[in-house]
Amino acid sequence: MASCTASSLFLTQLVVVVALPIISSSSPAGGCFDSIISFGDSLADTGNLLRLSRSDARPTRAGFLPYGETYFRRPTGRFSDGRLVIDFMAEWLGLPFVAPYYGEDGGRSAADFGKGVNFAVAGATALDASFFEGRGMGNSFPNESLRVQLGLFKELLPSLRSTSSDCKEFLGKSLVLMGEIGGNDYNYPFFMGRDLEEMQDIVPLVIEEIVSAISELIDLGAATILVPGNFPIGCLPVYLTQFQSSVKEEYDPSTGCLNWLNEFSQYHNEQLQRKLDHLRELHPRANIVYVDYYNAALRLYRSPDKFGFEGRILRACCGGGGTYNYNSSQSCNSNATVCDDPSSYASWDGIHFTEAAYRWIFKSIADGPFTVPKLDISCPSLALNEPALTESE
Ligand SMILES: *[C@@H]1O[C@H](CO)[C@@H](O)[C@H](O)[C@H]1NC(C)=O
Ligand SMILES: *[C@@H]1O[C@H](CO)[C@@H](O)[C@H](O)[C@H]1NC(C)=O
Ligand SMILES: *[C@@H]1O[C@H](CO)[C@@H](O)[C@H](O)[C@H]1NC(C)=O
Repeated sequence: MASCTASSLFLTQLVVVVALPIISSSSPAGGCFDSIISFGDSLADTGNLLRLSRSDARPTRAGFLPYGETYFRRPTGRFSDGRLVIDFMAEWLGLPFVAPYYGEDGGRSAADFGKGVNFAVAGATALDASFFEGRGMGNSFPNESLRVQLGLFKELLPSLRSTSSDCKEFLGKSLVLMGEIGGNDYNYPFFMGRDLEEMQDIVPLVIEEIVSAISELIDLGAATILVPGNFPIGCLPVYLTQFQSSVKEEYDPSTGCLNWLNEFSQYHNEQLQRKLDHLRELHPRANIVYVDYYNAALRLYRSPDKFGFEGRILRACCGGGGTYNYNSSQSCNSNATVCDDPSSYASWDGIHFTEAAYRWIFKSIADGPFTVPKLDISCPSLALNEPALTESE
């Protein structure tokens, strides 16, 4: 039998037996997983678009300062001033930062991916580029959809382990981070002026794409899959600027966010959760965890003072002026004005979060405060009640 191909029920069950982790590390969740396999977009891209843009001569602003200024002190291709949720997750699990799939010089060896591999590419959509082209939205969509990312993973998998059962064991001991993905499927059409009704019609197709990728991964041996939902997009400076309204009722008085856009995010998240419930019934042995990015982020907007963002919560740190410090023709780049202290802003560039916000969001997910369900991973070493990060950090 060819190595690392899907799937026999027998082997799927075998994985569950071998996937019981051994606890060793001192980090709160250390020893739970051997690696992280990640799919998604700019919210989890640890360097793929930067590498693609170097080889394709497609310049990305994440390849220039001030991107990366806070933590790495150099641009890494991350769309933030520092670490992303996936980075905090890797630290929490006692694993290195997840290596981007695309190599610096046109390729990497399988040995580089022993502790994880990241397929997330900034700008990626869940649906294929052809879907958007078919709907008359132009032909400039990146060819890095979820299906393309999954295809690359399936190509890579045989080189990671030599036999089919090794592959299943490898995947069974990996934490699969599926997303966030799908946000761009909405961003592009929204900014092209497509109306809400058309957008709502796209939602089930996006969810279907995500669910089908998860099913394939489970067939290949994945046992623990984290599936983040969408953020409250009505709170992002890019949306607040583009859809600025003089109708007061369109805004949530407690946050200043645009209600109809947040309702749209919730619509996606509700449909996603419903499909995940169904997937759990089909795969009772897999641990499929919905990760509530929406409510984790909404906490910041509800009580900005608690997190050090008071007065700046809806403004981008790095941007081109205006009410929300966002201007699409002068977005964050080396010419933009950058705030003195990114840790006092939630939004980095109007679209993406600062490291400070990502840290709080991760903390909400890992510690599970009242409003966010706990990250329920069936690993005995997960000290869910111990804060992974101290609030004063
Ligand atoms: C998109 O990428 C996939 C995988 O790399 C490739 O097989 C396919 O031909 C590409 N499609 C286009 C339209 O470039
Ligand atoms: C956005 O930036 C462009 C180019 O710098 C400028 O011409 C325009 O006035 C700005 N728009 C706003 C609303 O500030
Ligand atoms: C910064 O501004 C200069 C002068 O206007 C311009 O030539 C350059 O292209 C700008 N750089 C970026 C990254 O936008």
